[in-house]
Amino acid sequence: MKLKHSCVILLSFLTFITLSSLIASQTCKSSCGKIPIKYPFGTGLGCGDPRFQQYVTCNQEKLTLTTHTGCYPVTTIDYSGQVIYISDPSMSTCACTQPSKGFGLDWDAPFSFDDDTVFTLLDCSTTSSPIYRTSGAYDDSNTTVIPQCDRTGAPICSFLYSCRAISLLNLPISTCCVYTPVDLGPSFEMDLQKLQCASYSGFYSFNGQESNPYNWKYGIALKYKFNVYNDYPSSCANCERSNGVCGYDGVYNTFVCNCPGGLNTTSDCFFESPFNHSPRLLPRHTADNFLIYSVAYFLVRVFFKN
Ligand SMILES: *[C@@H]1O[C@H](CO)[C@@H](O)[C@H](O)[C@H]1NC(C)=O
Ligand SMILES: *[C@@H]1O[C@H](CO)[C@@H](O)[C@H](O)[C@H]1NC(C)=O
Repeated sequence: MKLKHSCVILLSFLTFITLSSLIASQTCKSSCGKIPIKYPFGTGLGCGDPRFQQYVTCNQEKLTLTTHTGCYPVTTIDYSGQVIYISDPSMSTCACTQPSKGFGLDWDAPFSFDDDTVFTLLDCSTTSSPIYRTSGAYDDSNTTVIPQCDRTGAPICSFLYSCRAISLLNLPISTCCVYTPVDLGPSFEMDLQKLQCASYSGFYSFNGQESNPYNWKYGIALKYKFNVYNDYPSSCANCERSNGVCGYDGVYNTFVCNCPGGLNTTSDCFFESPFNHSPRLLPRHTADNFLIYSVAYFLVRVFFKN
């Protein structure tokens, strides 16, 4: 009798191991909320490219870029143009002004600012901000003040300062600066405290109407590259063509193709079969919670029946 029970338990255990690996869902998702996810981005650990994984993550269906200055919702990704668009909840727009600490990219992050991104520093101190000082000046009291801002960007300042939210602050136009260091200098950092500015605005498109700042596309556009040659890895292209999602695994972050059935291959999912996937004996990851619950349920049933 005892032996028979053990057999039942063992049998059900094995059944559920097989079952769970068959019905386990794909670890790496092909979308996060409404944003389609493709290489080099990924929805979690082991997905996409490891260089990007630590900066762009999917949490509760929200894709987020994280830098040392904060977390920024990703609004859209232009995969053909290789540009990722983010918004900064702390930035000022035509509709709303607010204090901000600025924005910075990590120096080792695989991103650079897209040329379309225009940063405008707002409400800067004309007396103490370093952006208004000529470089190499040693006598503040007797140097002609030449702002380090882009003079050709002056119309941008007038348009922005005509926005109701900003005009209410009643600031002189001289406190506005279209900030030119494209990659924000060697530190990739726009530290508004250091620059003595109260807030900033960033946009990447006039949206066809330069004189209508209400319609501009506010946010930050960042470029990315796949690698030094900027080639889309062919192994990943094949994987995606077969409905797989590219990922990586192991100590050396070797390429894996995460297939719709949840199995990983080293190539693509066209010949997806359980045989090129080594069986898992230990429960791992959330999909396996199902396994644990099922086994527990069965054990309880077997014991209570007898
Ligand atoms: C497949 O690869 C992903 C990403 O590396 C990993 O999280 C997952 O556990 C793997 N799945 C299997 C069944 O090994
Ligand atoms: C300030 O600049 C003016 C004109 O360049 C010069 O004549 C004058 O000597 C300078 N004064 C001081 C204190 O450096």
